[in-house]
Amino acid sequence: MTEIQTIGVVGAGAMGRGIAQIAAQAGLRVRLYDTSADAVAAARESLRQTWEKLAQKGKLTTADAHAALERVESATALTDMSACQLVVEAIVERLDVKRDLFAALEGVVSEDCILASNTSSLSITAIAAACKHPRRVVGYHFFNPVALMKVVEVIDGLRSAPEVGDALAVLARRMGHTPVRAKDMPGFIVNHAGRGMNTEGLRVAQEAVATFAQVDAVMREQAGFRMGPFELLDLTALDVSHPVMESIYRQFFDEPRFRPSPITTVRLAGGLIGRKAGEGFYVYADGQKQVPA
Ligand code: NAI
Repeated sequence: MTEIQTIGVVGAGAMGRGIAQIAAQAGLRVRLYDTSADAVAAARESLRQTWEKLAQKGKLTTADAHAALERVESATALTDMSACQLVVEAIVERLDVKRDLFAALEGVVSEDCILASNTSSLSITAIAAACKHPRRVVGYHFFNPVALMKVVEVIDGLRSAPEVGDALAVLARRMGHTPVRAKDMPGFIVNHAGRGMNTEGLRVAQEAVATFAQVDAVMREQAGFRMGPFELLDLTALDVSHPVMESIYRQFFDEPRFRPSPITTVRLAGGLIGRKAGEGFYVYADGQKQVPA
């Protein structure tokens, strides 16, 4: 397969900018596109600040920081993806929207361009069904924050060509990440095996056995996780993770292990969605996490 030199990233939110960061740091050219031009501008500014901080800490030379930013180009239309050997999608978690995007991308890119989805919960096979060339479609599921979570799931849909996943596994290593190959089942590996911690944590809280902070402390200190379930939900934000929970539950035909909780439904409706809103299970003020009174 053609070596991947230029990657397109569609969706300039938390995940898209993280993928752009590790790709540019690995020397790839990045074209970043979002339906919101403001999101692209905000992502580039956030990348500039990230690289500036890394340079201040001595983790990157100033010249490398500048060069990385130079490699990230703002795309103003989907047609700007035409020269990419790979396009990674990190947009809203909706099958219809992703399918429309993939079909549109096929009209823009070359026949051997790989199309990858960062979806957390949707079927790669179902996304690929919108494409004329479904063999080029794979899942490339990074975790938040992308630069720190150094694992990526490479998901083969039923029609994905194995060499496409192989190429993405090689690319993951170039970007400093460990690829893990997964089959196209709801939640893949992490959101299948790990989802139980969220749903059980929510049940413990719902039954008033312990507070959110107590559950988090136990999972961190005793079970050795970097974050407890509520800290993780706050980082991901409920507008992203609640639909993922619902989707995995439905796709397993209402399997009780994956049943979401009304706790997240109510909080989502109330806008208490997590860090990015300043309030979730915790309150965030001046960058500090506090337990609400
Ligand atoms: P986000 O809400 O921060 O960013 C999504 C961006 O996509 C927004 O800037 C929005 O304007 C843009 N967008 C929406 N529809 C678009 C379209 N049709 N074309 C171009 N741009 C469009 O979301 P986030 O957190 O970055 O998640 C994106 C994807 O990554 C979702 O599929 C999510 O399930 C997946 N994901 C999220 C993780 C997380 O922890 N946030 C972890 C792993 C995967």
